[in-house]
Amino acid sequence: MIGRLNHVAIVVPDLAAAAQSYAETLGATVSKPIEMPEHGVTTIFVELPNSKIELLHPLGEDSPIAKYLERNPDGGMHHICYEVDEIMAARDQLFAKGARILGDGEPRTGAHGKPVLFLHPKDFCGTLIEVEQA
Ligand code: CO
Repeated sequence: MIGRLNHVAIVVPDLAAAAQSYAETLGATVSKPIEMPEHGVTTIFVELPNSKIELLHPLGEDSPIAKYLERNPDGGMHHICYEVDEIMAARDQLFAKGARILGDGEPRTGAHGKPVLFLHPKDFCGTLIEVEQA
């Protein structure tokens, strides 16, 4: 069912420092910080030849990643995102196989304007998984 790796999301305590590490130490192409108030994050996109890394920092009072940063003050990997062809078909298959979908089970619009679902980390080796309709 899952297709390409769309991105890996990393929560960082300092976006400027993270961007500098990726741009200067690792020699990657990084975007400017992009505020996404509807998602409660500021994001820097790191473009790789075969995928993307998203550096995330909390934005606003109710950021969904604020607690993660409290528990992991140095930052860390937050989720990985796999592409699927059809989000509703993917959801039905996941439900049928007993995977737990976070929230009410309805796809939301993700950071790229496409429908996404998040799957419970306890079902997938301790890793939060996002599936995005490609
Ligand atoms: Co994501």
